[in-house]
Amino acid sequence: MTIRAVVKGVGHYLPERIVENSEFEASLDTSDEWIQARSGIKRRHFAAEGERTSDMATNAAQAALADAGLEPDDLDAVIVATSTADFTFPSAATSVQSGLNMTSGFAYDVQAVCAGFVFALSTANAQILSGQAKRVMVIGAESFSRLMDWEDRATCVLFGDGAGAVILQAEQGEGSSDDRGILSVDLNSDGRHRGILYVDGGVSTGQTGYLRMQGKEVFRHAVEKLAQTAEVAMQKAGVSAEDIDWVVPHQANIRIINSTVKKMGVAPEKVVKTVQDHGNTSAASIPLALSVAKANGQIKDNDLIVTEAIGGGLAWGAIVLRW
Ligand code: UT7
Repeated sequence: MTIRAVVKGVGHYLPERIVENSEFEASLDTSDEWIQARSGIKRRHFAAEGERTSDMATNAAQAALADAGLEPDDLDAVIVATSTADFTFPSAATSVQSGLNMTSGFAYDVQAVCAGFVFALSTANAQILSGQAKRVMVIGAESFSRLMDWEDRATCVLFGDGAGAVILQAEQGEGSSDDRGILSVDLNSDGRHRGILYVDGGVSTGQTGYLRMQGKEVFRHAVEKLAQTAEVAMQKAGVSAEDIDWVVPHQANIRIINSTVKKMGVAPEKVVKTVQDHGNTSAASIPLALSVAKANGQIKDNDLIVTEAIGGGLAWGAIVLRW
């Protein structure tokens, strides 16, 4: 017998405002055709003025609680994966905790940019396996529209805002890959590459700054590293590509998603794709995709899922779980 961190609920929130590719044509030398062909993105959501990352995270958390049939005080912890917390501190997670009127447990943020949700899920899993917590809310929430340089057509058309949340709960498993819950984790980072995707602001500059990216370089690393980390996670879990029901990748670029899945040897129809509707929502993209895929009937109980992501740092990783 072994403890497993099993998904008990999932939910998401997208801000009301939808921005179609064509909206950028008025202010930038770009086109709907270019954006779709190079990234697969058709539209994205942008947070309203005054709408904060923690507001979106709280909405997603409430949806996940409703899905699980749980109350806020049933949770032992709230972890928010974000690079766009409302303030330098306190954490977005403590804002979510107070937004939920949750008076017990502990709350903190994890920052691994687009890989943030994978890192946060891994942290929650470790706390559940160690007995430190029994039920953990893991949220990915971002307001990347606040980091855009609206004159940089190579970045500002790619990102969007939103939040997704998953509740993990300790349950007994047999210790085999038939168990429900998280079966394996593979995390990596390589700080030598931190200059190819970063924000040129922060505490050291006194300004929030703008996202800067060498897109081609990030693309090259993504294609190589994502398939590799997914492979390692599948090996650790003792499963192979044929066993996989769904790949739920970080939604950055349809070309990265397609070539990663091809390298993994998983059939293209087994991939959850939301990049066309959400753009790149960084740490929010995977929980958003999980929630949408469950809501539309793609993901079902006992499905075997691989989720993988890469982002600034570089930081990347993959998790195998049975839903
Ligand atoms: O989530 C974190 C991880 N991030 C990613 O995974 C993003 C990884 N990178 C990418 O997704 C792709 O590299 C991009 C979508 C950012 C760009 O696609 P690309 O095929 O690598 O294009 P490129 O950067 O090589 O640009 C090709 C051309 C350039 O013009 P020249 O130099 O060939 O004349 C760009 O200036 O496209 C131009 N370009 C644009 N044209 C119209 C760049 N952005 C735009 C634009 N509209 N928005």
